[in-house]
Amino acid sequence: NETLQIRASLLEWYDNNQRDLPWRRISSSSSCGFKEDDDEREKRGYAVWVSEVMLQQTRVSTVIDYFNRWMNKWPTLRHLAQASLEEVNEMWAGLGYYRRARFLLEGAKEVVEQGGTFPETVSDLRNIKGIGEYTAGAISSIAFKKAVPVVDGNVVRVISRLKAISANPKDAASVKNFWKLAGQLVDPFRPGDFNQALMELGATLCSLSNPGCAACPISAQCHALSLSRQNESVHVTDY
Ligand code: ADE
Repeated sequence: NETLQIRASLLEWYDNNQRDLPWRRISSSSSCGFKEDDDEREKRGYAVWVSEVMLQQTRVSTVIDYFNRWMNKWPTLRHLAQASLEEVNEMWAGLGYYRRARFLLEGAKEVVEQGGTFPETVSDLRNIKGIGEYTAGAISSIAFKKAVPVVDGNVVRVISRLKAISANPKDAASVKNFWKLAGQLVDPFRPGDFNQALMELGATLCSLSNPGCAACPISAQCHALSLSRQNESVHVTDY
């Protein structure tokens, strides 16, 4: 079946080609013991939260330094919750869209003040101010292995080619459809890796122009490629 082949090929490609990124070291560090520490869970959720918010408008190579400096200054959510808006803005300087930094600070305070454990599900995460569908899906799947989708502009392009979707990806109905399709595709056993693999494929081989189909792990399942429509305008429009 096509979905199973896509999952297997994409995950194999990711295992061999993923970049070594600082937040991946944290998010994939699951303790092997049967009783998992709350602190470890929170650390993973926090690292994915910070990295994904930074990655929303900024490319990976720029984010690495900012992420490392941020985590040095505020190694845990509890440290961040004690920070001031001025400190957070200063740390964010150069990243732009300062609202993102304020939301992170306010969100951290919210979780800490509520006193419970770090939320793991999309619906609980969505209750935190500043966390939208994308960030909730990323945290839930990457840090907590929940089989939920994550859709960003790169994922839209990959899926639109994979399924040869000719609708404008910017239409509200299309966006809803991409979330649905991504939810059907996501690997139930390795959802975080699968979602990151889709994003990474879209950021690298499945590019806006001149996609590297010859090297693509899922070219055999790509409907746009089989129809020679990989360069069709809807697939080369940035979402
Ligand atoms: N772009 C945004 N988040 C990403 C992630 N976790 N992996 C790869 N690319 C990304």
